[in-house]
Amino acid sequence: MQTLVTLCALLPLLLSVHADVVERFEDEPECVKYFYKEKVPEWGASTPGAARLCQRFVNRYHFATLYDTNHRIAVYSAYQFQPSNGGGRESRWFVEPQLVSKSWQAEMTYSDSLGKNYPGVYLGEKQALNEDFIRSGFDRGHLNPNGHHAVPSRNATFTLTNVVPQNPKLNQNSWRIHESDLTNLFKAKCSKAFVLVGAVPSAENWIVKNNVKRVNIPDYLWNAYCCVDNNDKPIQSGAATARNTDDDKVEKLSLVELGEFLQQFSDEPVGELFYNDCRA
Ligand SMILES: *[C@@H]1O[C@H](CO)[C@@H](O)[C@H](O)[C@H]1NC(C)=O
Repeated sequence: MQTLVTLCALLPLLLSVHADVVERFEDEPECVKYFYKEKVPEWGASTPGAARLCQRFVNRYHFATLYDTNHRIAVYSAYQFQPSNGGGRESRWFVEPQLVSKSWQAEMTYSDSLGKNYPGVYLGEKQALNEDFIRSGFDRGHLNPNGHHAVPSRNATFTLTNVVPQNPKLNQNSWRIHESDLTNLFKAKCSKAFVLVGAVPSAENWIVKNNVKRVNIPDYLWNAYCCVDNNDKPIQSGAATARNTDDDKVEKLSLVELGEFLQQFSDEPVGELFYNDCRA
């Protein structure tokens, strides 16, 4: 009896080790560490159809994504910056099997091979597929950028749950430059940098395929960072927003200003994006 009770108490713990979609990021220690001081923001928490993805690739976690399965784009991805160690660009695009069926593999997979293993099963009910982006006129714009990681985390950013339909001009110019400015800042000043990158969905702008609204085209992209020293004490924070249009303009903001910006899209308080607003 005692053994049974112990086993029952342990079971959720044992299962959680291999569950990639978690109820709360806090339930997975290896996943919540992508948030500064393990504080998960309130922002987006009540999004209908939200799935919490601990992004797994080659048997370990690399970052976390709050994924909106109705709009089929992320609310945000959360990660810790890593200097790149070179290496090529991943050529595959991954999908999340566990968003097709909860009993399926909890690790991102090359979509072509998954399709071959399950012929006739439609993979795109709860996530965007590579085919949605083909000839859409939009880039597969990384939220968590591949340039902020070393391999294999770099490869893991190529999951379609981490990209949004992004205006090509914005993706290839000012947003790319902003990401590279952040790389320089993080390398120069921070012992660690925690980053959130999100998208604000549009009301009625979609990539439509065969008369089906497949992938929401977000109105805005935003990001926020908390740069800390080797004692995890904040050194600097900042944020940015960009309209997802040919304007090709990134607006740099403070965390407080980003909070005000995001507030216009929600009835609930935005709350802290980082523990103690990344204040020293
Ligand atoms: C990551 O991507 C690089 C560049 O395409 C590739 O050479 C490498 O094999 C990939 N790593 C894994 C584990 O798939």
